[in-house]
Amino acid sequence: MTSAMEVLWKQALKTFSGRNSANFKLCQKNFEKLRALINNISAEDVKLEKQVLDFVQMQSAPMCVIDIFENQDITIAVFILKHGVTMPMHDHPGMHGLLKVIAGVIKIDSYSMQYADGDHIIKPNEEITAVKHPGIIVKDNDDACVLTPSERNLHEISCVEGPAAFLDILSPPYNVDEYGKGSRLCTFFRIISSQRATNSDEKTENVQLMVIDSPPDFYSRSLKYLGPPLR
Ligand SMILES: [Fe+2]
Repeated sequence: MTSAMEVLWKQALKTFSGRNSANFKLCQKNFEKLRALINNISAEDVKLEKQVLDFVQMQSAPMCVIDIFENQDITIAVFILKHGVTMPMHDHPGMHGLLKVIAGVIKIDSYSMQYADGDHIIKPNEEITAVKHPGIIVKDNDDACVLTPSERNLHEISCVEGPAAFLDILSPPYNVDEYGKGSRLCTFFRIISSQRATNSDEKTENVQLMVIDSPPDFYSRSLKYLGPPLR
């Protein structure tokens, strides 16, 4: 029988196939199908058992990562955060992402950059204007969270009930050259000032962000994928 992970993987390949070519156009219908599939994924589907979560909590790294699949178009991985850990604010340049919590509870604070074309290359000392969306609490029976090149592309993730795990599909992967523009790097940020937005129904804030060096105390340990093979 085909596993739920295999079905998800095939749909992700289909949705993002050819992602790195200049004329790639995301098919919304395929994306919505993928979204529906990931919404139904549980810890059981990736064979993430309690012993593994207990191990994560006991070892020293703040986060463990289970790499499941990567090619030129997509990355699929499970991230497990220890209780109380915060994954510092970072971006996903030019990328789409789906994040499905499968264990524990996390808080996601998302930000959308103001020049939202997803094409901007960030310089080291640049100050960036962004909108901060209201933080959301996400647990395993909630739907997947979505980010796009322009919407909610930056986030900070805190583990409020841990260890917490989420399955992540990103396209294209980090470090893949997008039609000659160079390597896609993950940049970290911190807030330097914020101001409540007045012209919005949502409780958003306008924030100024500054690029920071990758936080040295935030590192990860890699764990083996024990779920069904993808073939
Ligand atoms: Fe992220």
